[in-house]
Formats: sequence, structure tokens, C-alpha cells
Amino acid sequence: MSALFTPFTIKDITFRNRIGVSPMCQYSSVDGLANDWHMVHLGSRAVGGAGLIIAEATAVRADGRITPSCAGLWNDAQVEALIPINRFIADHGAVPAVQIGHAGRKGSSARPWDGGAHLKDEEGGWPIIGPAGEAFDDDGVRLWKTPSQMSKDDIADMQKAFVESAKRALAAGYQVLELHGAHGYLLHSFFTPLVNTRDDEYGGDTRGRARMMLETVDAVRAVWPENLPLGVRLSAADWIDGGLTVQDNIQMSKWLKERGVDFVDCSGGGATPAARASVGTRTADQVGLAEQIRAEAGIATMAVGAITDAQQAEQVIASGQADMVLLARQMLRDPYWPMHAAQELGADVKAHIPVQNGFFVG
Ligand SMILES: Cc1cc2nc3c(=O)[nH]c(=O)nc-3n(C[C@H](O)[C@H](O)[C@H](O)COP(=O)(O)O)c2cc1C
Repeated sequence: MSALFTPFTIKDITFRNRIGVSPMCQYSSVDGLANDWHMVHLGSRAVGGAGLIIAEATAVRADGRITPSCAGLWNDAQVEALIPINRFIADHGAVPAVQIGHAGRKGSSARPWDGGAHLKDEEGGWPIIGPAGEAFDDDGVRLWKTPSQMSKDDIADMQKAFVESAKRALAAGYQVLELHGAHGYLLHSFFTPLVNTRDDEYGGDTRGRARMMLETVDAVRAVWPENLPLGVRLSAADWIDGGLTVQDNIQMSKWLKERGVDFVDCSGGGATPAARASVGTRTADQVGLAEQIRAEAGIATMAVGAITDAQQAEQVIASGQADMVLLARQMLRDPYWPMHAAQELGADVKAHIPVQNGFFVG
């Protein structure tokens, strides 16, 4: 009996297996709108057998996008565009989820395949904000804009934007909501001492730096239905001296749990250029962070990072390191990865893919 292919329930939502598609920016929207690309990108992974599909980092405001081509949930037209995609995902047995967030001082950038550098306002960029007034990078190689430090009024406005986006996410048919609290974007940048140098109640010690994340969670939990799962993606370690440790994130996870958060999605890094996370052994180490947070904070975790192989994923679940595995790049290589993993692990393939395929190849 495969652990990976055992259903998992949080609140009223049951995932048909423990496999999720990790959120991946598609840089393919115009005005934050989803389109045919998103239907095929997300829909094909539902057909491929994933239990959970987390749509890309989706901005709560236009200035919260990483690039001008990123997705958004700040108006009703964006809701309308997402409805058929989420209906398709749900009709084919996967659970549609979205990651909402604000890019903070890392916003206003070019797409990765256009070089990723900050865009000047006259190049289609916009003024950026953050907990403090320091640029992400000042290496002189790429131009990084300097953010303006958010006032308390700015913070209150931002929390309202998260609330409005959460309501729109529900209207768009999402069944799971994740807040982006990782990778140096706004919520993480408030939590990490590498960025947050404020001396008011939103800075200082761990509790002060956590305030932005926790207040935002409180506000969102109040509008996101009690019976539907709410999660947060954390950079569970900054991997740099003077940055957040896993112990800080165990504490954060306990605070999140007290506020009705159902799971923590355990990523890492991204606060500063030296704390890069996306490649190499650090990404693989993230599974261990999910294990520690699950054990010590007593909250469900999702593990992500260099998971590519069915036996490896099975082991993460069977050994209790995490409740679900999330795959990003491997899902780009193979949208049918869950079906192939079910075949390899001897699971009942038919139970995990739509009948249109399962009848013939299950
Ligand atoms: C194309 C691409 C886009 C990504 N976009 C996001 C995103 O929108 N939000 C996020 O939290 N992580 C994002 N990530 C990170 C992934 O979700 C994942 O955490 C990371 O790639 C490690 O998983 P992997 O080893 O399975 O690729 C992105 C990764 C890729 C490759």
C-alpha cells in the first residue's frame, strides 16, 4: 500500500493523493489575467493525477507583482478568467489552490527569460515598497530599485488587499488558500532580520518581525471559510548568518497554528542575493525543514525541493517527514508524473487520473 497514494484530508477537503504541484510563476498574464496558457498548464497537471494544484504567486495588488506578466487577484475580471480553470481542475479530481502574495522590494522586475533585472518606471515598472528602505541588491551589476519604507497606514492597506484577494480567491473557485510568506517577498521580508530593520512594533525581536505575517493571517482567516484549508509558504531557513533559522520558523509555525493555519509549505531562502534557494543541495535540504516543523510545531507540512523520483516521494510520506510533497520543475518535465509514480509504486492508477485516460491505461 503506497503512502504517497493514500488520500489526505484537511478540514472539508480531501486530496486524492499526497502529490501537489508547487506554485510556479508563468509570467504569461496580461493585466494579471489568466488565459489559455494557464488552463493548459494547470489543467494538464490535473489530468496527470496531482491531488493538489497550487497556482502561481498571485498578486493582491498590481504593485505586488514580481513582473508585469504575473498573475493577479485584485479585480473581478481576474476572478472571471479563473473560474473555468478551477472548474476544470476540480471536475478532474484535483483540488485547485492559489498562492496569494505581494512581491515587496523584489517587485517591478523583468521576466527571467528577459534577464530578471528591475524595470524602471518608464520601462513598465513601478515604485516598490518594503519593511525598510534597503534595495535587494546593490552589487552594481544589475539595477535594483530602492523600496520606500511602509508606514503603518501602508501596512493596514496591504492587509486589506490580502483580505479582498482572499474573498476573490473563494469566488474564483479555489478550495485551498496559501499565503506567500517565503523567498524574500513582502511577508517574508518583514519576518527576516536580514531585511526588516524597523524599530517600531513591526520590527525588532522575532515577535515584532512576525507581526505583519500574523496580523495578515488573522485578517484572512476571518474571511476564508473555516471549513477550507489555509496554509502559509515559509522560507523555513534563510541559510545565512544573522538570518532566520528553522527554530524561528518552528516558532512562527506554532503562532500560525494558533491562528487557524492548517499547513505550512516549507521552502527556503530568497531574502538576499546571498540566500539563494532555487538550486543545488540547499533546495534538497528543505525536506528536512518540513520534517522538523511537522515534528516540533505539530502542524501539517508540505515538503518541496528536488523531489523527482517516486520512491523518494513515497519515502518522504511513509517516514512522516511531511503530509504532502510538492513538485515544481519535475512537473514541468512530466505533467503526468503522478500517473507514472502510481504505476511505479503499484498503486491503483485508475483512482488517481480521470476516467478518460484511466479506463484505457490504468
Ligand atoms: C518556473 C518556476 C516558477 C516558480 N514560481 C514560484 C511561485 O510562484 N511561488 C513560489 O512560492 N515558488 C515558486 N517557485 C519555486 C517552486 O515552487 C519550488 O519551491 C522550487 O522550484 C523547488 O522545487 P523543485 O525542486 O521541485 O523545482 C518557482 C519555481 C519555478 C521552477
